Amino acid sequence: MCGIVGYIGPENATQILIDGLRKLEYRGYDSAGVAILTGSEIQVARREGKLDRLADALKAEPLYGKLGIGHTRWATHGAPSDINAHPHSDCSGHFAVVHNGIIENYLPLRERLQANGHTFVSETDTEVVAHLIEEHYHGDLYAAVRAALCEVVGSYAIVAVCSDNPDTMVAARQHSPLILGHGDGEHFVASDVPAVLAHTRRVTYLKNGEIAAITRAGARVFNIQDGAEVATEETIVAWDAAAAEKGGYKHFMLKEINEQPTALAETLRGRFSDDRAGVRLPGFKLDAEGITRLNKVLIIACGTAYHAGFVGKYAIEKLARIPVEIDVASELRYRDPLIDDRTLAVVISQSGETADTLAGLREAKERGAHVLAVTNVVGSSVDREADSVLYTYAGPEIAVASTKAYTTQQMVMFLLALYLGEMRGTLPATERARYIAALQRLPEQMKTVVDIGPRVREFSRRFHGVHSMLYLGRGSNFPTALEGALKLKEISYIHAEGYAAGEMKHGPIALITPDCPTVALALPGGVYEKMLSNIKEVKARWGHVIAVGAEDDDELRKYADDVIPVPRTEELFSPVLAVVPLQLLAYYCADYLGLDVDQPRNLAKSVTVE
Ligand code: G6P
Repeated sequence: MCGIVGYIGPENATQILIDGLRKLEYRGYDSAGVAILTGSEIQVARREGKLDRLADALKAEPLYGKLGIGHTRWATHGAPSDINAHPHSDCSGHFAVVHNGIIENYLPLRERLQANGHTFVSETDTEVVAHLIEEHYHGDLYAAVRAALCEVVGSYAIVAVCSDNPDTMVAARQHSPLILGHGDGEHFVASDVPAVLAHTRRVTYLKNGEIAAITRAGARVFNIQDGAEVATEETIVAWDAAAAEKGGYKHFMLKEINEQPTALAETLRGRFSDDRAGVRLPGFKLDAEGITRLNKVLIIACGTAYHAGFVGKYAIEKLARIPVEIDVASELRYRDPLIDDRTLAVVISQSGETADTLAGLREAKERGAHVLAVTNVVGSSVDREADSVLYTYAGPEIAVASTKAYTTQQMVMFLLALYLGEMRGTLPATERARYIAALQRLPEQMKTVVDIGPRVREFSRRFHGVHSMLYLGRGSNFPTALEGALKLKEISYIHAEGYAAGEMKHGPIALITPDCPTVALALPGGVYEKMLSNIKEVKARWGHVIAVGAEDDDELRKYADDVIPVPRTEELFSPVLAVVPLQLLAYYCADYLGLDVDQPRNLAKSVTVE
């Protein structure tokens, strides 16, 4: 969690850092701060609360300097407060440090440093790094940071500056993301690409265990442990600066919901054979023999990505006839799972940095599985550590509540299911052609779904005052019910339960009252009639039912109070379209309630701590 930025160059650093932090607020937003080298001293400004509070403080009392670091925080050690906000300094105030991650051995280090006379002012784990650098400093900032980090156990992305070194910034990473951005005579450090996009698209992804000494002339990268210089590779990122802006929408979430038709098309681009009869996934490196040998697929993910995996389970089992297990990553790592070299582990992560998901990836790899990553972020940890990778190509997703990343993850899972079905001979060519045609229609169909925004807004106007909502679905739309409830909870703070509709009679039916509306996913397919029965059961208890169903389904209109129509597609693919009204419902409820849609309380987009 947390976002960090650094700047060295000819411009005033303060505004560049604030603008960069704005792009990283999705990583945490309970406090923020900057440290700027002004003349021969480092000046620090920190504020609890949203970044705007810091920006206002800096307008009132500006800091000028051409070297600086900044941080936006999601608290782990120590409550959100001015004192616990980063950057942190040593006793002398010569050094300033920003950090994303957790220093696991900070307590013994802190005790030792205190015994040596160091005075600590915050409750954070990070402050030990500033004092360690002070201890190890003999005129060379790079050497001091490297020596300090050799004592540190845990995860970190770190940037440090020193008042004696106006031409140097030192950055390092271990298990938390960090990139270097390269401009003309200026260089940037950031947790993520959008923070530097306004200035450059030339980036270097630091690897675990690497430390960079950055001057105006350039960056040199070394191994933290042995100090050996390592060769780096510069990448030109495909995203442009506009992709990370709101583009006229009130919130990033609404923009990202509306980007789904384009995002789905991007996900499919180049993934079919020339005759469009088969799926081509060059990023998936397991050969035909390896695929035939598989006896299990294990899907590992967290949050919304877990729901995308759940949708994928239905598709893979149906099309490739192979058992699929799915686990939330935080559970998998502690349950001694049955994984071997005949397991395909599919790790789904928008950011590619979720700590539990990464741990699951490593566990699966260690036990011999072929690990296939499904991620949106090129160069992320998940990308680098997996054996194979399939990108979702959703473009940057900034809102904390995931929307386009979710539907594009589902698309990749469908492609994978079709590919495995083809390779394992479980999907006859005619059926495959039917599914491929349906998949290719989805981006177009998605356009009509996002256009129903104003109608859904009307439902949100009516229902945003309720205390609880029930989401029911069956089959491949059971995960849609889970995702719909999650969306509502996370951004509107209305309690919601997602349930397999058949389980309703085993508990949730007791919740049904006229004040607890039910959203029912009643799409055409094998479980449609069963869903109608469940809707009738809700109605019989005076519940209000908003159904999501096929646009031409007149039958459904007889039973549900309201129907939100979506176009017909294959039942297996219907979750991609059916979730969109639920995304919109949650969005407009939160907006009616006047809540901070893009940055809901207590959450962060990228959960890089366990
Ligand atoms: C957080 C985010 C969710 C996301 C989950 C997994 O909880 O708020 O939107 O689904 O992490 O993130 P990942 O980057 O691994 O997909």
